[in-house]
Amino acid sequence: MNKLLISIVMASFCFSCAAQDISLPNPQRTGGKPLMEALNDRQTTREYSDRELDEQTLSDLLWAAYGFNREDKRTAPSANNRQEFILYVVLKSGVYVYDAKANVLIQKVKGDFRAKTGKQEFVAVAPLNLVYVVDLKKNSAEGAAIDCGYISQNVYLYCASAGLGTVVRGWFDKEDVRSALQLNEEEEPILTQTVGYKLQS
Ligand SMILES: Cc1cc2nc3c(=O)[nH]c(=O)nc-3n(C[C@H](O)[C@H](O)[C@H](O)COP(=O)(O)O)c2cc1C
Repeated sequence: MNKLLISIVMASFCFSCAAQDISLPNPQRTGGKPLMEALNDRQTTREYSDRELDEQTLSDLLWAAYGFNREDKRTAPSANNRQEFILYVVLKSGVYVYDAKANVLIQKVKGDFRAKTGKQEFVAVAPLNLVYVVDLKKNSAEGAAIDCGYISQNVYLYCASAGLGTVVRGWFDKEDVRSALQLNEEEEPILTQTVGYKLQS
């Protein structure tokens, strides 16, 4: 009887944990602007509206950034196939880790930490800030910097194709980011990137 009670309590506890995660719809892997048009439109944006991204857009964006386009390989290349990045997704509702295989955002911290991801005012207005965190067990921070550029450019091109604004950012306080994302000793933030709808002037 006691065992049954414990199982029920544990099951409901696990359910309430999982309920914070965001299961994303399957990414749409076709469509968008032709590559040459996306390259033509790629640019940095620093003025954003606070309009949220819907889950389909979020899914498409994250897949473009760092999803799997083959069984075990991704949309971005990495030296020696290290696949050393952990994509942190900072939304108004919390800090999440992108599980690319399961297509789920796993909530790590609840609450709005967007302002902690950078020094520029728009980081707290735009709906999404990505933080590219290297797993130091797989590569050094210096070694990972080049691989990071490919992920960031994927985001730039997706945004150009989808009519979104984006800016990759090196100007952030490492300690602020570390504490907001609750990073451990083996995780190091390399770059951040804001995404959102452009403010119409
Ligand atoms: C590694 C890197 C770090 C950057 N850091 C910042 C930043 O912290 N803040 C910012 O507003 N722009 C940042 N940028 C964006 C550049 O300023 C921008 O790419 C450049 O001005 C050229 O503009 P374009 O992207 O529209 O071609 C960064 C770009 C790179 C590649």
